[in-house]
Amino acid sequence: MDTTDLVLAIAHHLLVFSLAAIIGMESVLIRGELATPTIRRLADIDRHYGIIAGLIIVVGIGRVIYGLKGWEFYVHNWVFWAKMAAFATVGLLSIVPTVRFISWNRQATANPSFAVPAAELASVQTYIRAQAVVFLLIPVFAGAMARGYGY
Ligand code: HEM
Repeated sequence: MDTTDLVLAIAHHLLVFSLAAIIGMESVLIRGELATPTIRRLADIDRHYGIIAGLIIVVGIGRVIYGLKGWEFYVHNWVFWAKMAAFATVGLLSIVPTVRFISWNRQATANPSFAVPAAELASVQTYIRAQAVVFLLIPVFAGAMARGYGY
């Protein structure tokens, strides 16, 4: 038994579920018209998105290095790299929403009658939907990789 592996696995799962919850919250809040408190909440939640994603990278790398299977198991495993590519894609798809949330929050703070332009809202909704879809691939790859597929 290895306590480090267990602690990293628990932290990894908790962080991953938190990120799923954040993407879920953003998907729900982004629907319909955005009042100023909703814009503020989105900007706030999105800040946590960045923190959680950063922690997932740190803990994930920790699992690669200190996990029971050894780093060679992962670096030579194409399913691991497919998982990394899916995670990187989710990260890239989150850039436009993050930039928009910061900008909308700034504009709503300066001007209480600010209304989010329809085209910007539609594009952010598409990016968040795409993130949710690609995110679903990550546990699929994770489960396969953990059971030796791709090695
Ligand atoms: C830089 C990012 C990440 C790295 C380096 C990483 C690395 C790892 C490693 C090394 C394992 C252990 C697999 C084993 O037992 O052999 C693992 C498991 C797992 N990862 Fe990640 N991970 C990352 C991001 C994510 C994300 C974003 C998700 C989101 C769903 C995720 C979901 C999982 C799940 C569900 C498992 C458990 C698989 C199982 O035991 O069936 N990981 N990850």
